[in-house]
Amino acid sequence: MADDGVTIRPLRTDDDYDAQMDLAERAFGVKAADERAAWPERITPLIEGGAYFGAFAGERPAGAALFYDMRQWWCGRAVPMAGVSGVKIAPEDQGRGIGRRMMSALLDEIAARGFPLSALYPATVAFYRTLGWELAGGRYTAVLPARSLRSFVPGDAALDEAGGDGPLPSLRRAGPDDAAAVIDVTGRAHEAARDCGPVTFDVTTTAFRLRKPDTYAYLCDDGFVAYWWENGNDDLFIPGIRAVSAQALRSLWSVIASHATIAETVRAWTGPVDPLWWLAQEEDGKMDRRWMWMLRVVDAPGAIAARGFPSAVTLHVPLIISDQIRPANSGSWMLSVADGKGQLAATTAGTSVVPLRLGARGLAALYAGTPLASLRLAGLAAHGDRDTDAALDAAFAANPYMLDGF
Ligand SMILES: CC(C)(COP(=O)(O)OP(=O)(O)OC[C@H]1O[C@@H](n2cnc3c(N)ncnc32)[C@H](O)[C@@H]1OP(=O)(O)O)[C@@H](O)C(=O)NCCC(=O)NCCS
Repeated sequence: MADDGVTIRPLRTDDDYDAQMDLAERAFGVKAADERAAWPERITPLIEGGAYFGAFAGERPAGAALFYDMRQWWCGRAVPMAGVSGVKIAPEDQGRGIGRRMMSALLDEIAARGFPLSALYPATVAFYRTLGWELAGGRYTAVLPARSLRSFVPGDAALDEAGGDGPLPSLRRAGPDDAAAVIDVTGRAHEAARDCGPVTFDVTTTAFRLRKPDTYAYLCDDGFVAYWWENGNDDLFIPGIRAVSAQALRSLWSVIASHATIAETVRAWTGPVDPLWWLAQEEDGKMDRRWMWMLRVVDAPGAIAARGFPSAVTLHVPLIISDQIRPANSGSWMLSVADGKGQLAATTAGTSVVPLRLGARGLAALYAGTPLASLRLAGLAAHGDRDTDAALDAAFAANPYMLDGF
């Protein structure tokens, strides 16, 4: 317990659920009815797994935060990632440093569990920046008239069967028992696309999502879609379509198209360069919103080793990283990339090249593919040899996105 009487510890299953719900409702201003109903199935495993932390002023809950055990794809390779969510401090306890202490404890736990990365959707960017998270990618919402999806542009005839006009795979309805298959096909889709940013949840959370009564889900060997209706039956909402093959993608979209006589509008979370824009007959959809998410490099050597890199890039660049919150990341390093793999090795030997200097935020932004020119202009990178900037840009090149919220 600190001098101010505040204790930070993992929640226990015998902690008062109602007091936690009251805290969530006071901090977020909405009745957490869904979360209340979901607590036994969704939240209890997180508590049992030590992934849900609380701050207590005496006995009273003063704050809480949790993380999900996730995988995030970086250049087509799955990197273990702790997805932080539900961060809140009671109104009367805010601004006293409790949030910072609680998140530092959560970050220590995330590091102790061996997650090299953590990501979150910020309600306030400034708070998380003080802890080393930085803006990294977006979740994009495309909005289209449903009727535009009734037919897609055929594959280019010049390409014969390679254009995507082969037989469409048949789909089957998916439910909670398919959680492992959904995670598998989602991962294969992101690997094949060499995606940067998309995530998968663990089996329990995926099954929970597939069990939601309003969710319809379809699966084939090479693809998966889930969706639900909104505003009565005016709108369809699709939190992402994942497909390994062009045929699977068309087959999954055909499920959505089947509703085009009833639904007015389709809203879908997509990537910024989603194939949808090249499939749609007309250019009458728009990108409605980009919701930025933030990334934290928790373990710099681990994160570099786990990430994919373009196989054409070879480089050796000296770095000096300063990370006060995760001091193990600090120091002099040699970043090497070759054969699609990266390595960050501690170095004491001086080089003739002036090292590039990064803090925790600059490291996160670089990892997520932010070009060096932007990092330098934003004050997140300094020194280094500008001749190596282009090679670093090529190594980390990414347009990161996510198809999930948490
Ligand atoms: C955001 C929140 C968790 C921060 O907790 P807190 O205990 O008030 O924050 P702290 O007192 O520990 O502040 C830590 C640092 O973040 C900064 N900070 C905190 N809240 C901030 C805000 N809303 N805007 C800008 N900076 C903020 C503080 O200035 C402080 O910076 P410093 O360490 O450089 O002095 C808390 O205010 C809260 O629960 N807000 C309502 C719910 C919410 O928005 N949750 C976030 C969901 S993603």
